This record gives sequence, structure tokens and C-alpha cells, in this order.
Amino acid sequence: MKNKFYITSPIFYTNAKAHIGHAFTLITSDVIARYHRQKGDDTFLLTGTDEHGTKIARAAESAGQSEQKFSDGISESFKILGKILSISSDIFIRTTDKKIHWPGAIKMWSDLSSKKDIYKGTYAGLYCVGHEAFLKKSELVDGICPDHKTKPEVVKENNYFFALTKYKKELKELYKDGTIKIFPQSRTSEVLNMLEDSEDVSFSRPKESLSWGIPVPGDESQTIYVWCDALTSYLSAVGFGRNDEYKKWWPANVHVIGKDILRFHAIIWPAMLLAVGLKVPRSICVHGFITVGGDKMSKTVGNVVDPTVLIEKYGLDTLRYFLLREISSNEDGDFSEERLRERYTSDLANGLGNLVQRVATLIDTKMDGEIIYHDKLLPDIEELNEVEDDTEINQAIENFKLHEALALIWKKIDIANAFVNEEAPWKLVDTNPEQFQKVMLALTEMVHHIAYNLEPFMPETAARIREVFGDTNGKEIPNDFHFVIQKSAVLFPRLS
Ligand code: MSP
Repeated sequence: MKNKFYITSPIFYTNAKAHIGHAFTLITSDVIARYHRQKGDDTFLLTGTDEHGTKIARAAESAGQSEQKFSDGISESFKILGKILSISSDIFIRTTDKKIHWPGAIKMWSDLSSKKDIYKGTYAGLYCVGHEAFLKKSELVDGICPDHKTKPEVVKENNYFFALTKYKKELKELYKDGTIKIFPQSRTSEVLNMLEDSEDVSFSRPKESLSWGIPVPGDESQTIYVWCDALTSYLSAVGFGRNDEYKKWWPANVHVIGKDILRFHAIIWPAMLLAVGLKVPRSICVHGFITVGGDKMSKTVGNVVDPTVLIEKYGLDTLRYFLLREISSNEDGDFSEERLRERYTSDLANGLGNLVQRVATLIDTKMDGEIIYHDKLLPDIEELNEVEDDTEINQAIENFKLHEALALIWKKIDIANAFVNEEAPWKLVDTNPEQFQKVMLALTEMVHHIAYNLEPFMPETAARIREVFGDTNGKEIPNDFHFVIQKSAVLFPRLS
């Protein structure tokens, strides 16, 4: 039986166009999904847009459009971005979708309410529209939200509350006993500290303050809090509120998120699930921010880089590779185009591209373009064993260290390139034809295996390598398989 694997990316606010920070989250989620598909797991990847709340209502107002029309446009641009980035998503959920999402959000509210975990109260606090959340004074720097560089608004109003504090003790145990795993693990203590400080959460806004959202079931004068609405999309997308399909997928195996939304995912969300008697997610993978000169890249700050511009200039897989290799999965990382160009030349053109081209050209010119594979003919050499060993790469991916996994793949590329230099097969053709055959077979196997390792990260490049070699796409090569070299362009041409 296949294992099921349900993974979610965050769903994106539709207040502004996407930047490479969003692309990073999407690509990260996609790599993990593709890795699990490659392993044979029955995989489902969710992505989509989070379309309600003050932030979007205000952006629509300043654009002079209705919320729905404005949101439709940006949601569509995120959908297109997903295609441009080759995100292998199985659903693109929209929180404005009254057929797919609303029944789930309404059921979630009703279930919380019938468990007596929703109560009426008055809230007075500092609301950061960028976060769509009340912030504590201690979270501000000189009275300003450090992420959005804006002053939060003073809000005092009547709303419904979610009785989160009832679940604090139970949640603490779930983190301590590893029922919910946080990657990187070092963030678990941060979650436990946040938990200590957690209070009941304001879970609705009066309609006069915010009407753009889902009305509270049974009380139309209030709108469901955008985070209660948005988090529930992880369930509504797989059927919750509509059918029992969600039972197949739930609990989610992984929620991929940025560090700014950890509290919502690690505290509020599992508490909601405990309250309604559903299982908690198995793990939460938390990445850092892409920064520019140390500041978080964001529309509000005004320092955004458009992923489509980079893709047009350097190609999709260059962007996928660069973001995943240069920016640690676990920490903040600065973006610079200059650094991208450096990595392109050293890692892609001189590293991977060079290897593929050298091996293909040797087969093409010295072997009439064809090599027949048989495992019995493979030499028993250290280099081949190292290239075929995926243990560390798999561990890195499963421990949410995608940057490390890529570094390990590049170690293999270096091994293979060094092997070509040492063996100098172009000389062996005449001096030792038998050794020449072995070396070429070993190199073909290395390139095949490297393409297999690259598949989740750079699917287009993996496919092009296979195309050049006339290769199959499984991990194992069948005996007597004929690799027939196809004429091909250089994978990563030199930059001008
Ligand atoms: N709508 C919420 C998420 C709801 S999930 C139920 C949200 N949306 S967002 O559009 O603001 O951000 C989406 C994701 O992009 C978040 O994980 C956030 O951390 C990530 N990023 C936004 N800017 C980023 C960087 N500069 N760098 C890396 N990721 C960043 O939050």
C-alpha cells in the first residue's frame, strides 16, 4: 500500500503581486512534494490564496475596485505564477470559493461553537493589518511592527473569542512528545515560549469594521477572523464540510510556512483542531525570510524582486536552484542578482552543465553516440558508490534542509567531474579500450543518478539531461538499455 502524503504551502494574501519570497515558499513546498512522489507516496500538494480580511479590503479600496474583482485579479496572478514556477500542486484553493471553501469554514466555526469554545467578549489591542493580527507591545520596536514597518492601529470592539488557553497544556505535551514536529527542531523552544504567553484569540470582527469575509454562522453582524477562515482551507480543500475525502488526507504531513506565521500554525491551528476533535498536523517546516540588505522583502517595505523577471533572464531552474541553494531552508538569507550570476557560472554552467556536455560528447564522438548499459559491466569503484548513495540527501530533505541536499548533490557532480579529469577517457579510447568502456559506463550511470537526484529540485533540467542521453526516468536502469545521445543545446550557456 502506498503511504499518503499531504503537504500544504501557505495560501497567499491577494493584496499585492507575488515576489521571490512567495516563490521561495512555493518552490520549497514543491520540492518536498516531488520528492515524496518520486518515493512513490500518494502525494497531495495544496496551494492557493487567502482573500479576506482588512489588508485586502483596503488594497481593493485604494485600487478603486470591488474586493472580489480586485482579489480575482491577484489570485489569478498567483495561479499563473504557480504554473511559471512548475509547482506540482493538486489544488489551488481560494477562500472566496463559496462552493469549495466556505462550507468547511462554516463547519469549523459551528463545531468550535458547539464545543463551547467560542464566546463573546470585548477586545482592546493593537492591530497590525500587515500581520492581520493583534500584536503585543513587546513585539513592537519603537511602537512599529518590525516586519511591516507600520504602526499598528488601536482597536476596541466586541467580538467572539476562541478559548485557546483551554488547550495549552495538551499542546505542550504534543510538542514535548514529538506528536507535532517542528523543523528546524531549534524552533520548538520558541513555540513552547509562545505557548506560555498565549491568550484566548479574538476570532471575529464586527461587520462595521470588516465586512469582507465569511459571516459568523448565526450572527451576521460579525465576520469570521481571517486566520480562522484561512487555516481551515487546509481542511476544506480536501473535502471538510463537503464530503469525507478529507479523512483520507488528514492530518496534514507537512505545513510549509515562513517564520512570521509560526504562531498561527503551531498554536492557534492545532488548538482549533484539538477543540473540534481532529488530528493535529504531523510537522511544520519553518523557513526564514529572503532579505534585501537585511530587511524582509515585502510589498509594504517596497523592496520586492519579481520572480518572472529573473526567470526570463536566467531560466526557471536557475531561479529554483539559486533560491534553494543560497537561502538556507532554516534561516534568513539575502538575495542579490550578482550572487545568482556567480552561482550560475560556477555551479550550473561549469559544474553540472560541463559534466553533462563532456560525457554526452564523449559518447557521441568516441562511441558512435550509443552506450549499452549492464550492471555487470559497471566497475566497482569508490566514486560510483558515492554517487549512488542517497542516504544523506534523503536525510537532508526529510529534516528540511534543502540547501544541504543540494550541496550534497553538487558534491556528486564534483566527484563525477574529477573522475573525468583523472581517467581522461579521450586518451583511454586507444590505449585501453576495455577501461574506456568501463569508465564511460560509470559516467553514464553517474549522470543518470544525478538527474534522478535533481528531479524534485530542477524537474526541467532533469528532463533535459534525460533527453540528451535518451534516458529512462526511473532510478534503476534496466540491463541492456541503450543510451542514444541526442544532439542538444548546452544546458546552461555562458552568461553574456
Ligand atoms: N495569508 C497568510 C498565510 C495563511 S496560511 C493559512 C500569509 N500570506 S502572505 O502572502 O503574506 O505570505 C505567504 C508566505 O510567504 C508566508 O509563509 C510568508 O512567510 C512568505 N513570505 C512572504 N515574504 C517572504 C520573504 N521575504 N521571504 C520568505 N518568505 C516570505 O502570510
